[in-house]
Amino acid sequence: MAWPTDRPRRLRDNPLLRELVRETRLSPADLIYPIFVTPGQGRREPITALPGQHRLSPDKAAELADIFRKNGGRALMLFGVPDRKDPVGSSGADPDGPVPLAVKAIKERVPDLAVVADVCLCEYASHGHCGVVSGRTIENDPSLPVLAAQATCFARAGADMVAPSDMMDGRVRALRAALDEAGLERAPIMAYSAKYASAFYGPFREAAGSAPAFGDRRGYQMDPANRREALHETALDLAEGADVVMVKPAGPYLDVLREVREFTGRPLAAYQVSGEFAMLKHAAAAGALDFRSAALESLVGIKRAGADLILTYLAPEVLPWL
Ligand code: PBG
Repeated sequence: MAWPTDRPRRLRDNPLLRELVRETRLSPADLIYPIFVTPGQGRREPITALPGQHRLSPDKAAELADIFRKNGGRALMLFGVPDRKDPVGSSGADPDGPVPLAVKAIKERVPDLAVVADVCLCEYASHGHCGVVSGRTIENDPSLPVLAAQATCFARAGADMVAPSDMMDGRVRALRAALDEAGLERAPIMAYSAKYASAFYGPFREAAGSAPAFGDRRGYQMDPANRREALHETALDLAEGADVVMVKPAGPYLDVLREVREFTGRPLAAYQVSGEFAMLKHAAAAGALDFRSAALESLVGIKRAGADLILTYLAPEVLPWL
């Protein structure tokens, strides 16, 4: 037989063969679309740092949810952006806050869409940190009941899942206990388990007005240089009762994603964050790459690395391409 005997190109010869041997497929059910909700009515404010994304009042969020569902979308993640912030982030647990009202409006209009609610202090607190602050210290244990109250409030409003993104130690156990205590034992927790202190959150902080007023988040979010620690964080969250674990950001941390995939059989989410989305948008706008193929490639890479679920601002744009 003529050399080379092994010819991988045979199976790349045409689209039919390529499709038959494709190992990874993206499906609409893999995607969770993060949106920003704000108080009021009829509000739809463009977010400059995230081209095409808006801050939406609950009625506008329900409108978007309807269109998203009709296009095949399955799940949204809600971030609350209140008009007024105070040092303890008290509006986070207000049943009339933007997240509970948006959850209700969405569920009423589009009952067959899953709604996940992000749980954190940074969007609600004037200091922009993810936990309770005293002086310049981000306190751990005093943050837990505040986060638990927020999670309980969101689950009570009808959220299908709550997702703590604060990175305080012990918060999954605190949320689980509070939810169970409130009779919300059926509400699952998606824990941001391996959440890194990343520069790629830049655009999000403009969207949520949540840039820290002093210091940075390196005292609670993970060091980007650490891989083994991601497994430790994941193990802790699972032991504390997390139903879904997450790696965040996604693209620059595909090795971590793969490793966590091998570590647990539990559902694994990856968050393609605001900076990853903005890079694709700006590069495409500059003519450096083709948006559609680059967007799909970025997502298939995240799935191939091991994610079951992908949180991505690309969700509504890529749905028609799947
Ligand atoms: C914190 C939170 C952040 C993101 C999700 N939850 C910002 C941060 O930790 O500074 C970032 C998401 C993104 O960049 O898209 N509540």
